[in-house]
Amino acid sequence: MNKVVLIKDKIRDFKKKSISVDGDKSLSIRFVLLSSLSKGKSFASNLLRSGDVDSAINSIRKLGIKIKIKKDYCEVKGNGLFGFNFKKNLVLNLENSGTSARLITSMLSNTNYWIKVTGDKSLKKRDMSRIIKPLKSFGIKFKDNRTKLPILVKGPKLLKPIKYIESLGSAQCKSAVMIAALKAKGKTKLKCLPSRNHTELMFKNVLKIPIKLKKEKNFDVIEIEGMNEFEGFNYKIPGDISSASFFIVLTLLSKKNRLTIKNVNINPSRTGIIKILNMMGAQIKIFNKKSYKGEPTADLFIKSNKKLKAINLNPKFNSSAIDEFLLIFLVASVCNGTSTFKNLSELNKKESKRLNWGIKILKMMNIKVKKIKNNGLRIWGNPNLELKKSFEIKKFLKDHRVFMVSTIAALALGGKWKIYDANCFKTSFPKYLKILNSLGAKIK
Ligand code: S3P
Repeated sequence: MNKVVLIKDKIRDFKKKSISVDGDKSLSIRFVLLSSLSKGKSFASNLLRSGDVDSAINSIRKLGIKIKIKKDYCEVKGNGLFGFNFKKNLVLNLENSGTSARLITSMLSNTNYWIKVTGDKSLKKRDMSRIIKPLKSFGIKFKDNRTKLPILVKGPKLLKPIKYIESLGSAQCKSAVMIAALKAKGKTKLKCLPSRNHTELMFKNVLKIPIKLKKEKNFDVIEIEGMNEFEGFNYKIPGDISSASFFIVLTLLSKKNRLTIKNVNINPSRTGIIKILNMMGAQIKIFNKKSYKGEPTADLFIKSNKKLKAINLNPKFNSSAIDEFLLIFLVASVCNGTSTFKNLSELNKKESKRLNWGIKILKMMNIKVKKIKNNGLRIWGNPNLELKKSFEIKKFLKDHRVFMVSTIAALALGGKWKIYDANCFKTSFPKYLKILNSLGAKIK
């Protein structure tokens, strides 16, 4: 059913509140996939139970791996690197999850039959050639020359190690190569543009497999020795900074509020949103810092602040804020001055064309915005922005982040909003509306 959300009022001041957001999506998917290759039982607490993670769980179960979901933990019983067990004509449907689809495909070697990998309408539009190319060099086979889902995949037991340069700055591509490298006989060498480094940290600190990590100029260099089995493991999943970001921006753009967000992953490869908003004058504070198996976590403190300034963003921050740009554009639209962003072509390769959606939403809000060269964007901010008219957001391919950013625009800036496909936030952040309502929004 196509549910619709109506928001007619700005959020009333919630003054001072403390919240915690759902578990990190990237870490939850990595836990499910990597534990399925381990020998023995693995346990995760605070695993995100969202559409994207559930589609990873369903597919891993179809590969013959037992997964138990209890109230407080998730248990995965791996059978080692070569332990999948499944029948002919297997179909893995990863629904909306690009990360699950790309990472699971890299695990489909040692298979006698073709396995079909597919997804929903949005995922079927996304490019798979970015992982198919390196996976073919490992020896994994792809039927026909399809570059979009559905694809048919089959692989030999042993893969050949490869040398690969990852030049998109994509953590999904990097991780697909790293996971395939686990079943390759010998050393795989990767040079990658920076992107979130959760897979590296898990390989090194959790799975404890031989991996070398170095920096070379603008590249991260990774070397992995394949064919090393690893034991089951325990993992505690912290809150997702991408989910926390919606509340950071809501607080920032509202009138007189203070918000604490507890136990959030603050891996520097993910904290672009904090750095960028602080450069715009936000003064977000990080405290109670801890480290868990190489992943830093902390509590965040945000205060409302209407005196924000425009930014000319150095693209070196892009990858660490890659999922947060719709929010950053929203903040830029109320800043004093003109903001400029560059090299954002990857945004149009997400669940929907997010660069285009950012422009569309800002234009609807009467904000001057222009595409500039090098896939850039210029936004002329209006610090006195007050929305009064009616807005309708629909046909956005059920992109969870388009839905959530629209609700934040409505609650922070006013206007009468009708937002379609209201269930899609469950893809990444099932508690989203509950938390919004606990802060005083009245969304049914
Ligand atoms: C992710 C990587 C990013 C990000 C996505 C999650 C991951 O995608 O946008 O939401 O968990 O590896 P790209 O690898 O396409 O940049």
